Amino acid sequence: MNILGIETSCDETAAAVVVDGHRVRSNVIASQIALHQAHGGVVPELAARGHVTAIVPVVEAALGEAHLRRADLDVIAVTVGPGLAGSLLIGVNVAKAMAYALDRPLVGINHLEAHIYANWIGPPEAPPPPPAFPLVCLLVSGGHTELILMTGHGRYRHLGRTLDDAAGEAFDKGARLLGLGYPGGPAIERAAATGEARQFDLPRAWLPGGHDFSFSGVKTALLRLSERYRTPDPPRAPAASSPAGPFAEYTPRAFGPNAPIADLAASYQAAVVEVLAVKAARAAHEFGAKTVLLAGGVAANTALRQRLQREVASLLGHDLPVRFPPLMYCTDNAAMVAGAAYFALRRGEQAGWEADVHPRWPLVTMSDEPVSSPR
Ligand code: KG4
Ligand code: ZN
Repeated sequence: MNILGIETSCDETAAAVVVDGHRVRSNVIASQIALHQAHGGVVPELAARGHVTAIVPVVEAALGEAHLRRADLDVIAVTVGPGLAGSLLIGVNVAKAMAYALDRPLVGINHLEAHIYANWIGPPEAPPPPPAFPLVCLLVSGGHTELILMTGHGRYRHLGRTLDDAAGEAFDKGARLLGLGYPGGPAIERAAATGEARQFDLPRAWLPGGHDFSFSGVKTALLRLSERYRTPDPPRAPAASSPAGPFAEYTPRAFGPNAPIADLAASYQAAVVEVLAVKAARAAHEFGAKTVLLAGGVAANTALRQRLQREVASLLGHDLPVRFPPLMYCTDNAAMVAGAAYFALRRGEQAGWEADVHPRWPLVTMSDEPVSSPR
């Protein structure tokens, strides 16, 4: 079954064709990073306009890369939420138009569920073995940080979530504080590579007795520390000559030549990653997980991948698989949407022509089942 996936929930315009939920025939992503860089973050109006111009060429490219014609598609799947309303609308309307014109089923996908299903997809000749249930998934993206117990396809139970910033947001804000720009996760990771993580002892919010997270404390600690090394901001360019146009321009914070930016980045990354990995491993232990999954943009972080493997191995042994998607399926893409749609369709989750966007759609309302009491 050839499923076309479309993803426009934030700042990537993406389309992909995936066969039977596993085999990726094509995966095309038009990134808007250059569009938002001058502003230091995503500007929703610019994102929506960017999707309008990119979506049709991106869908055509996904078909071309898969060597398929439109008539070869069996299903059209699209992210309907959560995400930016104006951005989601572009993908949903293109998907509806294609499904209607081709007379094919339309499937509306939850973006968070798609991130989880990135762990089921791979190259056509060697898709990954399906992860074993029950599994615990640490879903860490720009807008979400959730610990989820998944007992079967489409069966989710929330174990914990962030009480304030999402993990990706913590990386993005940390990068801003250190003058490293946008997107922050890769910038922090790059800076941290030459730094010493034990140089600064930043706070960890363990929030004992539960599986929730909090990153506002470590962010404030970084703000205070970074102030010590900061130099005055350079004068602002006059508005007329600003490359940012009518939207607010981002001026990176400036630091002296000897500021320990690499050490600060490494210490900050270590603090964020440690809490995520330790708490995910504990949840896996408590709920008898047979697999531990990592998903979402922050799953691209090597320090997090390694630390999670270490924590799971020390608490549960080396035999418990820790899985994460290949890098290109961690950050936003449409292959994960097409992959998730295969399983959604098997559960009968087909959308009607009245399908709309759901900017704040949480994963938990989809299907929350009681699980046997924790060990
Ligand atoms: O899943 P995603 O592409 O979009 C959302 O659904 O939010 O995640 C984007 C987030 C951003 O906050 C970005 O800074 C973070 O993922 N990210 C990373 C890395 N690559 C992307 N965070 C840490 N390390 C990375 N290598
Ligand atoms: Zn995402």
